[in-house]
Amino acid sequence: MGGKSFGAAALLLILLNVAHGGKTSPFMRKVRRTEDMPLHSDVFAAPSGYNAPQQVHITIGDHVGRAMIVSWVTVDEPGNSLVQYWSEDSSQKREVAKGNHVTYRFFNYSSGFIHHCTLRDLEFNKKYYYEIGIGHTIRQFWFMTPPEVHPDAPYTFGLIGDLGQTFDSNTTLAHYESNPHKGQAVLFVGDLSYADNHPNHDNVRWDTWGRFVERNTAYQPWIWATGNHELDYAPELGETEPFKPFKHRYHVPYKASGSTEPFWYSVKIASAHIIVLASYSAYGKYTPQYEWLEAELKKVDRSKTPWLIVLVHSPWYNSYTYHYMEGESMRVMFEPWFVKYKVDVVFAGHVHAYERSERISNIEYNLVNGRCGPVKDLSAPVYVNIGDGGNIEGLATNMTNPQPEYSAYREASFGHAIFEIKNKTHAHYSWHRNEDDFAVTADSMWFFNRVWHPVDDSTTN
Ligand SMILES: [Fe+2]
Repeated sequence: MGGKSFGAAALLLILLNVAHGGKTSPFMRKVRRTEDMPLHSDVFAAPSGYNAPQQVHITIGDHVGRAMIVSWVTVDEPGNSLVQYWSEDSSQKREVAKGNHVTYRFFNYSSGFIHHCTLRDLEFNKKYYYEIGIGHTIRQFWFMTPPEVHPDAPYTFGLIGDLGQTFDSNTTLAHYESNPHKGQAVLFVGDLSYADNHPNHDNVRWDTWGRFVERNTAYQPWIWATGNHELDYAPELGETEPFKPFKHRYHVPYKASGSTEPFWYSVKIASAHIIVLASYSAYGKYTPQYEWLEAELKKVDRSKTPWLIVLVHSPWYNSYTYHYMEGESMRVMFEPWFVKYKVDVVFAGHVHAYERSERISNIEYNLVNGRCGPVKDLSAPVYVNIGDGGNIEGLATNMTNPQPEYSAYREASFGHAIFEIKNKTHAHYSWHRNEDDFAVTADSMWFFNRVWHPVDDSTTN
């Protein structure tokens, strides 16, 4: 192509992008089948040794980051639920915490012994070593506690959603681990193992998933939100207790924020107040989740935690054809609150692709006024869809056209994101596709805090 015609084509491309406000990335990933890694894959290998702890994962264990829940599975016998731990500078003066274990059955599957133990009264911003498997096969891990809650405390979150256990899932996790921005905790927007895509919801795939992600979940807290693949509701198998495997395997500190169920809760980490919502639990008026959120938003103190972040599985703004408008009823219930309380960003998953919105709201609508449609709103959050972890169901590639004005960037690729809080006013956000090298940023934005620096931070102006 000659220089002139190339220039004209480039100009046309730019004009097209401007015309629709946002950008639909032309990036084409090479087509291949998305399938779960086979059971004999090395990432699923059980640790050696009698009754060795496996599927180790940690999450924040209180409301401010001074506690950590350590969870693991033993398979030969219950063993004990003890955790020995010590801080890096305590010359190995060891403390011991005692937890407990649970088991469950799902159709013809019997779980191992699932241990949960909360380490309390930890010091902020400190490296701790911990050991589990005491009396049989001891395994040692470590974690960093977050800094004390403070308005200018910097902190870096990783964002992963809809991960599953395919070869692509493994690439996503490897990219997150190698990202030079170095996430300190993961905000996970739901859909973990996709065990329910296997015959009889084969819960062995919950175990393999736990072993697969252990290389990260044992060392940094993952904040869990639940997706539809955690429901495991299967009356045809006689399994009618929703979330049964998830509830037994993944404990979260929901009581610390006054919640009554582990599906909606909040934690404060550094300068961020993180609210986890449940797309698959009742949220209509008078329900426990509704009442909890109404009270919770009033408690958020932006002078202490300037950044208000929400995690929810089913997106409210999504311009792909998949799961289109599934999040609409929750949006109608809660969006006016998000604008009133100036939520900075909402991370969702469910749609297996990437999308970032403008700051928009659609809260004028009611049954009689006829006003309906997203409008630019500087008090509204940015909506990020990060359901691109790489699970067995494959990529969502079909988008609605033309790209709606509210969609700032969208691309059908697998990847992860990083939300890097610098201080009370600025956070750098970046999205990283799996097809690129580790340090490459495919989409990015400087977030300006909605309370302390509420100016326009759109990337398309
Ligand atoms: Fe989902």
